[in-house]
Amino acid sequence: MSSRRRPPHHVLSPEADLVPIPALACGGGNTSSGTPPADAPSSSSAPAASEANSECPEYFRFIHSDLSPWRETGITLEAVERARAKAAFRLVVVDGRAYVETYHRVFQTRDTFTQWGIAQLLARYPGRVPDLDLMFNCEDMPEVRRTTTTMPLFRYCKDGDTVDIVFPDWSFWGWPEVNIRPWTPLLDEMAANMARLPWPRREPYAYWKGNPGVSPERRDLLRCNKTWFKAHVFAQNWGAATRAGFTGSNLAEQCRYRYKIYVRGRSWSVSEKYILACDSPVLLVDTPFQDFFSRGLVAGKHYWPIDPKRKCHAIRAAVDWGNAHPDEALQMAQQGSGFARDDLSMDYVYDYMLHLLTQYAALLRYKPTVPEKAVELSAEALACPAQGRVRDFMMQSRERFVAGYDPCVLPPPFTADELSQMATREQEVRARVRKITTMDDMDHHT
Ligand SMILES: *[C@@H]1O[C@H](CO)[C@@H](O)[C@H](O)[C@H]1NC(C)=O
Ligand SMILES: *[C@@H]1O[C@H](CO)[C@@H](O)[C@H](O)[C@H]1NC(C)=O
Repeated sequence: MSSRRRPPHHVLSPEADLVPIPALACGGGNTSSGTPPADAPSSSSAPAASEANSECPEYFRFIHSDLSPWRETGITLEAVERARAKAAFRLVVVDGRAYVETYHRVFQTRDTFTQWGIAQLLARYPGRVPDLDLMFNCEDMPEVRRTTTTMPLFRYCKDGDTVDIVFPDWSFWGWPEVNIRPWTPLLDEMAANMARLPWPRREPYAYWKGNPGVSPERRDLLRCNKTWFKAHVFAQNWGAATRAGFTGSNLAEQCRYRYKIYVRGRSWSVSEKYILACDSPVLLVDTPFQDFFSRGLVAGKHYWPIDPKRKCHAIRAAVDWGNAHPDEALQMAQQGSGFARDDLSMDYVYDYMLHLLTQYAALLRYKPTVPEKAVELSAEALACPAQGRVRDFMMQSRERFVAGYDPCVLPPPFTADELSQMATREQEVRARVRKITTMDDMDHHT
């Protein structure tokens, strides 16, 4: 197991060669506002090297899996229009310009920040997003079943029984209602905080804080809040936190424990990346719900799998094991955080979007046209009327420069052999974790 960090996404260009994306032209003499982003176009935390990495991370290979229902048949206009009843909006790209037809409102600003992200993608990779036509659902629960005429529907997550096409969620560009900053500045803030509290000096327990009301797995986790189980579990009072503007729930300050618990929300949870990025091993309560990157996480390497049926005992066993094996615990912490910082840097989030949209577009059996009721998607239309935190987060997640480089190279689909090797490896890791848990139980009963 190597702890080698992923080389940088691209070779940094000299400042003079960068092509800036024009500032927002909002009129009224207010061309820009908000906190100017401190960072250059690529993640400032990337290690310096002259050689860039050309191949995309492994999790990109699931793009092929997600599109496999249409590999033989292609995607017809009829199939796309069947997904309309489930969609909050339709995204159409024609000749490098994007258009959105809105069908209904969604929770908070999920659609706005998703579309903001797409607008940034188009600005970053001008002319590279091909003509396409897709339906997007912004809700939590995946719902598309595989049939003989499967409809293509984009959303943020899926499970083993559904074939929804997964796309990065809004929170990478910010979640203003709960005060979660865009991913890049938040990562930088977290890195600064973590440097002040190295792993051995953190609380030797497992930590979770969140809204327990959204899933039975979360409510059940509250049972583990006992000294005996070495878990510290906190229920976020959503109502009170909302009234206070979530100012007291700074994610960058939630890395004070040696172990971090991840447990599903209603389906997937946007918290996974923040939990991974803490430089503490993640104790991941098994869940069928996957988002676009979580499928690239390897049990035993990036995280410690927790059996939901015996979660309290499994958590205690992981804590005991890690405290007794600090080198290995630290190694897992670094793998998990390295994944969050490097494989999941915004450079790769944009590349994932570009590759997914390109592969999807290649399957369309018709030439997309702009729907009559669609309006052009533009950064101005989204940001100029926005105020307060929404506006601020848009300014913080705005792409500043046109990409003067190619996206990473999309790796091929998984072969049947590779999939079975991955499954075997996973079973071995789980068997080992079960054994450690059983032995830990015995220790606590004698
Ligand atoms: C310009 O932007 C600032 C900061 O967002 C805001 O306070 C001010 O009201 C804006 N002025 C106009 C004319 O829109
Ligand atoms: C868990 O225990 C701690 C310490 O006793 C307490 O402060 C906290 O409120 C408990 N969490 C829940 C969800 O009851």
